[in-house]
Amino acid sequence: MNKTEILEWLKTDDTDKLQELWQQANEARRTSVGEEVHLRGLIEVSNICARDCGYCGIRVGNRDVCRYRMSADEIMESVQLAVGFGYGTVVLQAGEDYGISREWLCDIIARIKRDTPLAITLSLGEREDEELVAWHQAGADRYLLRFETSNRELYDRIHPPLPGRDSDRFLILRRLRQIGYEVGSGIMVGIPGQSFDDLANDILLFREYDIDMVGIGPYIPHPGTPLGMSQADLQCPPGEQVPGTELMTCKVVALTRILCPLINIPSTTALATINRTEGREHGLSRGANIVMPNLTPKKYRELYEIYPAKASCDENADESNARIKKQICIMGRVIGTGRGDSPNRKNKAA
Ligand code: 5AD
Repeated sequence: MNKTEILEWLKTDDTDKLQELWQQANEARRTSVGEEVHLRGLIEVSNICARDCGYCGIRVGNRDVCRYRMSADEIMESVQLAVGFGYGTVVLQAGEDYGISREWLCDIIARIKRDTPLAITLSLGEREDEELVAWHQAGADRYLLRFETSNRELYDRIHPPLPGRDSDRFLILRRLRQIGYEVGSGIMVGIPGQSFDDLANDILLFREYDIDMVGIGPYIPHPGTPLGMSQADLQCPPGEQVPGTELMTCKVVALTRILCPLINIPSTTALATINRTEGREHGLSRGANIVMPNLTPKKYRELYEIYPAKASCDENADESNARIKKQICIMGRVIGTGRGDSPNRKNKAA
């Protein structure tokens, strides 16, 4: 599929025609990664963040957030829940929190590797090269870093860099691959100022960069942010602005599956948030093969508010686990066993 065809799909409203896209994506998912839906236990380790991203509720400039960092023992308790639920992976996610030091995290990674068979995914922002290397050596398997948008001008406007530093996520993504991580990235759909052309380029870049896992979620305005208060003055020419809808997000999921058949694609929490009843299923039936149930202790969950009304905030880990497994079974899909490594990466390693 070329860029013109991608753009045609992104712009069409023809629901009959879209059935073809959903079918093609679901078929690609079935033949390339199968019926298994792999579960990754998400642990939101800290909402402390040094960065001031224009869209994100836990940006440093949002003074209304009560900040927390989980202790090593609290993290290990959540990790044990993942083992008990039969998950293959834990994802340790946080803001860009330098209180998460190289050594502290190396110890936790080593503990998880010593005590459990779990794969470990890190999602901790733009960290130093030596930290990324040390964490991989300690046993971390995968790293998630969304590039959010491939439009460099838009990227720069919504990601103020730290003083004297450049923010180049593509450079870091290449380094992650060299270091030996399985590499995840992704985007938000419907960022103010994001055009259809930008979105088509994003999808093509997933393939060009040979990304192993791609997370795609709708942009959801957060009132404690410049973008959420429409203060950022980001505009596309008339008719060019991508809407942050469920439909558009599903189109991007489907097109990504067709272009990169072997990768892992989560049905994201943001998608489940904008359509609480069916968002997650729609993602899974239009290309996705991963779900990330939340294992963060309930008292911290509501403080990790990157966007408002996040799905799963009103539940505990047991409830999220049970509900998600039931949903998967009702769809006729299979709960994944094992680590659920990206077939995209496995093929390369072989
Ligand atoms: N709406 C949707 N997604 C968001 N993220 C951060 N803020 C928002 C928002 N307001 C996403 C980013 C980030 C991921 C962890 O959460 O894509 O990479």
